[in-house]
Amino acid sequence: MEGLEFRRHRRLRSSPAIRGLVRETELTPAHLVAPLFVEEGLEGRAPIEAMPGQSRLGLGTLVEEARELQDAGVPAVLLFGIPAVKDERGSGAYDDRGVVQEAIRRLKDAVPEMLVVGDVCLCEYTSHGHCGLLTDEGEVDNDASLPLLADMAVSLADAGCDIVAPSDMLDGRVVAIREALDGSGLSDTAILSYAAKFSSAFYGPFREAADSAPSFGDRRGYQMDPANARMARDEALTDIEEGADMVMVKPALPYLDVLRSVREAVDVPVAAYNVSGEYSMLKAAAANGWIEEERAIDEALTSIRRAGADIIITYHAKEWARSR
Ligand code: PBG
Repeated sequence: MEGLEFRRHRRLRSSPAIRGLVRETELTPAHLVAPLFVEEGLEGRAPIEAMPGQSRLGLGTLVEEARELQDAGVPAVLLFGIPAVKDERGSGAYDDRGVVQEAIRRLKDAVPEMLVVGDVCLCEYTSHGHCGLLTDEGEVDNDASLPLLADMAVSLADAGCDIVAPSDMLDGRVVAIREALDGSGLSDTAILSYAAKFSSAFYGPFREAADSAPSFGDRRGYQMDPANARMARDEALTDIEEGADMVMVKPALPYLDVLRSVREAVDVPVAAYNVSGEYSMLKAAAANGWIEEERAIDEALTSIRRAGADIIITYHAKEWARSR
């Protein structure tokens, strides 16, 4: 008799209908955000070698891409700008005529319902590739960088960005950005903070895509140590106190425990960033015929939802949404 008791699990898996009935985690295109790279002066698309299927986009193709995403049911894009010229102070980042500001205006004009999230960070715009200003000793100067990040956030919001997402990991940037937005009459712009952003090898392909690798040193002085989960909770709580409306854990798959833990510690929406390296690994294995691509993508994204993400930022967004 006791043996029969244990058949419960198989009974609940016996048909698609019953599997659907008891499924705990739902994944729909409505949960996804597609990251896009927009390059100044580019006509058409420039494929990113390390990220098969992804390209840098010119302004025209960006609009095309946003339309396709919208048709697939994906409600939001996360924009990264690649300026023609970089300098020590990352001036392109907070230039109202900058590439990403222009892209936001074009997008909002052409596809107004698409939510636009703007990444706030200087690393794509600085000649040295670090996320803020440098001191004479070559260290990132936390406090001197904050006003520039705040200027960038205001400039993006002014161009029509719905959500700004600071990814620099400097201390105090959320409150600096919130105050600057409010002071500029931009109180409706939301902040999604990259609260727990780890110093990760999985950003490798992105740095090729965005041309943002640091020219010397690394980001360990400001991004989190992969060994720390409790500190990730503390980062999330601090950002919420400073005014973040939503918080992010990044990368996603190697940090599902952190995601779960942050999810349990906060009541605001939690996003997870399924980063470039996670994407490229899967694509490379699939290209070699070593894994089944469609199933692997679905499983990866479902796992991120199961661990507690409300929102998933992923390069698979269009492909996955279309395959449904
Ligand atoms: C910029 C930024 C990075 C990513 C998002 N914003 C790179 C970095 O910190 O080096 C990585 C995204 C990805 O790998 O997909 N600060």
